[in-house]
Amino acid sequence: MENIYSNIYSFNKKVLKKTVKSLKQGNLAGLPTETVYGLAGNAYSKRAVRNIFRLKKRPKNNPLIIHYNNLKNARQDVSFNSDFFKLYKKFCPGPITFVLKRNKKSKLSPISTSNLKTVAIRFPSHKVIRSILKLTSFPLAMPSANFSTKLSPVSAYDVYDDFKENLKIIVDGGSSKIGIESTVVDLTGKPKILRPGIICSKEIKAILKKNLSNKKSKIKSPGMMKKHYSPGIPVIIGQKPKKIDHAYIVFGKKHKKNFNYFNLSQKADLKEAASNLYKIMRKIKKYGFKKIFVAKIPSSGPGKAINDRLIRASK
Ligand code: TXA
Ligand code: MG
Repeated sequence: MENIYSNIYSFNKKVLKKTVKSLKQGNLAGLPTETVYGLAGNAYSKRAVRNIFRLKKRPKNNPLIIHYNNLKNARQDVSFNSDFFKLYKKFCPGPITFVLKRNKKSKLSPISTSNLKTVAIRFPSHKVIRSILKLTSFPLAMPSANFSTKLSPVSAYDVYDDFKENLKIIVDGGSSKIGIESTVVDLTGKPKILRPGIICSKEIKAILKKNLSNKKSKIKSPGMMKKHYSPGIPVIIGQKPKKIDHAYIVFGKKHKKNFNYFNLSQKADLKEAASNLYKIMRKIKKYGFKKIFVAKIPSSGPGKAINDRLIRASK
């Protein structure tokens, strides 16, 4: 099939070179990761970082995650601590983001981190983003590649839906396996989960061998604000659909098949459910349903992240 999107590229050596060159010139690119697709730019470049905020219509006080391919590069920008090393060893590269203290000598554009004294860093595992990071001499500031408050993209085509031809390059790395954003854990004090993800608090607690903080922190950034992850139609939790143009998101075996029923995981697997969540919400919107109703989904493990996203989408 011919590719009708002039800016979506399948990954190969030539595209790798082209993408790295474009990033070096200060341009942005839509890139795949194992969690969701990101809108990437040189984190050391003021211009690139400014463009990320502008293109996403993202409030300036919502800091970006900075992506690295190894410890050596990350060490230039942040201070590590023992909690960090333990979690890094267990989960990286992978779907977890660490908030750490910023180094005084860091070259990160202060705009990328909203002038905070802390930086959120991540080591993604997707082979495309890793091979790009290996060839750049700078880390990549990379929020999810969607308009602020909307659903994160899980395919190159989802990125195109929001940004169209405004990006020169969107690299197609297949659909994002994990399907929701990384777990964000603040390690600057008593460890605290700021955004739940596939790696859940129980696993983190087990590695750190200590309790996590569950203090209700004052909102550290608008990313933690209530309205987020909106599919663009109303989302109603805990009720059944009432009309034929209402879709129903369900989970597990007990639900029958129906034209407007969308099962996150027939076999009641929460990881599978997370990976289907945004895909299914986007599909429902495209089919023209007017509202999304959601059945109860267990809140254990990755279920906590799923419910977090659904609750925010319903605001
Ligand atoms: O899976 C992911 O993390 C994806 C992929 C592309 O890597 N990225 C992503 O970025 O979800 P974004 O910008 O959509 O979400 C970043 C989150 C926001 O909630 C932001 O507020 C928080 O990380 N964050 C960034 N820096 C922070 C900091 N210094 N302190 C607290 N929160 C921070
Ligand atoms: Mg986002």
